[in-house]
Amino acid sequence: MKPIEIKNGIYWVGAVDWSVKSFHGHTYTTQRGTTYNSYLIVDEKIALIDTVYSPFTEELIEKIRSIVPPEKIDYVIANHVERDHSGAMPALMKLCPKAKVYGTAKCKEGLYRNYYENWDFQIVKTGDSLKLGKKTLTFLEAPMIHWPDSMFTYCPEEKLLMPNDAFGQHYATSERYDDEVDQAELMDEAAKYYGNILWPLSSLILRKIEEVVNMKIPIDMIAPSHGIIWRKDPAKIINAYVSWAKNETKKKVVVIYETMWGSTEKMARKMVEGITSAGVDVKLVDMNQSDRTEVIKEMLTAKGYLIGSSTHDNDMLPSLAGFLEFLNGLKPKSRIAAAFGSYGWAGGAVANIEEMIKKAGIALAMPSISFKYLPDGDEMKKCYEFGKEFSAKL
Ligand code: FEO
Repeated sequence: MKPIEIKNGIYWVGAVDWSVKSFHGHTYTTQRGTTYNSYLIVDEKIALIDTVYSPFTEELIEKIRSIVPPEKIDYVIANHVERDHSGAMPALMKLCPKAKVYGTAKCKEGLYRNYYENWDFQIVKTGDSLKLGKKTLTFLEAPMIHWPDSMFTYCPEEKLLMPNDAFGQHYATSERYDDEVDQAELMDEAAKYYGNILWPLSSLILRKIEEVVNMKIPIDMIAPSHGIIWRKDPAKIINAYVSWAKNETKKKVVVIYETMWGSTEKMARKMVEGITSAGVDVKLVDMNQSDRTEVIKEMLTAKGYLIGSSTHDNDMLPSLAGFLEFLNGLKPKSRIAAAFGSYGWAGGAVANIEEMIKKAGIALAMPSISFKYLPDGDEMKKCYEFGKEFSAKL
């Protein structure tokens, strides 16, 4: 794939990673791959905004070389330390050793602790700017969106915001712009990205969006460091972020279970019938067969979660336990939940699920239900009513 001029004198020189299926140390499944976006600005001075993951270093350098010799790069702007954006820096900096690196104080520290190189580094703060010639770069610190070092770079002359990870998607495509791809796929990937990476940072994200709005800077393009570039409708992704960050939800229930011999599954399926009878949207998830990243995406917009497990060794089954541990880190706000499950003799899963629900900051909406071995006819009716009653509490 060749460089693409996204604005006058500003080129996408990133890489498309079609084959990656697992990201961030297996915390995120990337079924649609991803991209590592890097942007080259050619003016009187030449600046590169972020690099790419190290396996794609040669692709980056080739793209840059097709526009300018890499030796001519004056500035490398490091919006974020994480290796998917800085991995190519050591090789690139060997080609332009006099280039000055710009980033936050935390970025300077983080880059050093990753690569142990003494690059000429300029620490920047919110409001600092760098004149390239006709174009200017203005910096906006964005700590914990999503690392302490994170920063946005803005080019006022082009009304272009380069916010690194924010507004990204793990979405490999031959197209580069929002208006060229399937909208449902695009928003699906944007929601998955938000839910799995940014959800626990929602209050900071709301504040940052408010800060940008108050700065009254015109934005007609958002070029993140993953996925497609928002040129047709940047407001679409900003509004989606505001909604997700405010924890706005739909009347929707995600029923998540793990079952040993099918009894807990039977309960879950009957609950789904009860929820459906109440006219509420529902998704049923067998945790043992499901992709955790996708389940979190479903949970992002749902108000209610029903969580069930068979009891094994006085506890819930292990796939569900791992999932709830991950959910705990995401700390969903303004959600309700309840627990259910089947047991053989002593039980224990349901009480532990309730503990995990509370630990994640989710409100327990009603007492749990659990039945011995296979639920009988009356107990199945109770499962139906359980789903219906829970729906009424949404
Ligand atoms: Fe895409 Fe935080 O790295």
